[in-house]
Amino acid sequence: MTPSMQETAFEQPDKRVNWDRFLRGRFMVFDGPDGSGKSTQFKMFSNWVRGHWDVPVTEVREPGGTEIGEQIRAILLDPKNEGMTVRCEMLLYMASRAQLLEQRIRPALAAGHLVLSDRFVSSTLAYQGTAGGISREEIIRVAQVAVGDLWPHNTVIFDVDVPTAAKRLNPLLDRMEQKGAVFHERVRQGYLQQAREDPHRVTVIDATRDQDTVFGELLEALAHQARTNSATKSVTTKTIV
Ligand code: TMP
Repeated sequence: MTPSMQETAFEQPDKRVNWDRFLRGRFMVFDGPDGSGKSTQFKMFSNWVRGHWDVPVTEVREPGGTEIGEQIRAILLDPKNEGMTVRCEMLLYMASRAQLLEQRIRPALAAGHLVLSDRFVSSTLAYQGTAGGISREEIIRVAQVAVGDLWPHNTVIFDVDVPTAAKRLNPLLDRMEQKGAVFHERVRQGYLQQAREDPHRVTVIDATRDQDTVFGELLEALAHQARTNSATKSVTTKTIV
């Protein structure tokens, strides 16, 4: 490996930032379109935290992350289920989320862990909302039932254009990935809209570049948040609505 930004970041974490305080008991979401590379960044960040800071990390993914949630995931992504309506889809994603929240996220936060979630309500707003046609208000109402008052402190969106994302996907597309370019362009716009609406809590990273460059920018964006003390409070349902 060349002396990449990732290595630099590994060796020289920003000393001006109190990462320990920033990360402990924090609920962070990594999100973005299929093929954005968010799951790679998720792993890189989790490893970076474990390598540098004395903060326990709980990793979860959506849909899934629990035994029950993984069964719901299999139904959601099975290409055989092409007749699934968008409302059924939305409710199943929320059902998986409700289980994940009670079983894993809430206890981990209570124990002071950093909780890293690969997707969350931001995915439902982009896929079933902006792209699928269900209104933001309806999704937030159902999300209130699923997550109560437990919303992420901050969300990072890995933004990528549809042609670049398509090149990165495994040719065996799952049911969601099969929905085509127009749908996925709407998904992308849905994420960008969330960032415009809530720039303090939703950060966009240009994910078209190589993974080390993206990771360097991710750390810089989080360091900035930690230094400026922005996005430090978990959002309540009242703030979201
Ligand atoms: P993954 O491939 O990142 O694990 O995500 C599974 C798929 O589910 C992906 O295409 C995005 C989609 N999805 C939704 O449509 N709505 C949601 O609420 C979530 C969490 C995922």
